[in-house]
Amino acid sequence: MKGIILAGGHGTRLYPITMAISKQLMPIYDKPMIYYPLSVLLQAGIREVLIITTPRDQEAFQGLLGNGSDYGCSFQYVAQEAPRGLAEAFILGESFINGEKVCMILGDNIFYGDSVEKMARQSTDPDGGIIFAYQVADPDRYGVVEFAEDGQVLSIEEKPQKPRSNYAIPGIYFYDHEAVEIAKSLQPSPRGEIEITDISREYLRRGKLQVKVLDRGVAWLDTGTFDSMMRASTFVEAIEQRQGIKIGCIEEVAWRKGYIDDAGLRRLAERTLKSGYGEYLLGLLERGA
Ligand code: DAU
Repeated sequence: MKGIILAGGHGTRLYPITMAISKQLMPIYDKPMIYYPLSVLLQAGIREVLIITTPRDQEAFQGLLGNGSDYGCSFQYVAQEAPRGLAEAFILGESFINGEKVCMILGDNIFYGDSVEKMARQSTDPDGGIIFAYQVADPDRYGVVEFAEDGQVLSIEEKPQKPRSNYAIPGIYFYDHEAVEIAKSLQPSPRGEIEITDISREYLRRGKLQVKVLDRGVAWLDTGTFDSMMRASTFVEAIEQRQGIKIGCIEEVAWRKGYIDDAGLRRLAERTLKSGYGEYLLGLLERGA
């Protein structure tokens, strides 16, 4: 399966922070935001990743992550000229996807929890589409899914004024190759974007959409505002300090998954020794786990 990280957009809700730099390069505690969604793809076993950025920020992302070989992966880049909607990721990614199945994750979505890896691994071979539902207090800010009592999906709506449930759709989507053609057929919504919700809705119409409810142990964190970004950082710090482990650590995931060997991890550690990040990576080698 191929992976796409959508990391474009103007980040206007974080101005002036993001006036000159991409939101998805902002720190969430001790690492850039994009590390978190990238680590989910790597955990799922996805090693071929397309990173979609604004034209302005592409070079910065390349400077950070390179062509992926440091992580035993392949990273490619494409620029989105204007934020025309989440669904455009599949149009921009058409030749990269090349008829295969694809997981698209938003560059500003953070997932944490024991079951995240399993949830992602089990979704990499969708017959149609697999999306998720997560209970939130403020569903009107998200795509919302409504279930019947027997668990059947009744409706999917983008930011409804009167949400039919408290189940928001997190920014991770597993689709088969049909997503490209579906995306191309979409009309822009009233907010002028081609909506990912409309792709999922089309799979639903075809009877090919599975919606999995994320269990309560999973944290799905928002980074859209000053406050939520700060809370995400504090959350990561609390777990990392308490447990002595790192969340969203792409170097560690690549090593644990066997994409890179001990020497590869050591090389990555040496780049970041001064911040203490590298010490953590060397510690993994010393402990052998
Ligand atoms: O976070 C999950 C939600 O993401 C879903 O529940 C919604 O169904 C989905 O539409 C989306 O809603 P948002 O309103 O939060 O999307 P936003 O416009 O904030 O874009 C999400 C990220 O994608 C953001 O970091 C910028 C990036 N983006 C956005 C657009 C519209 C792009 O890279 N290109 C784009 O064209």
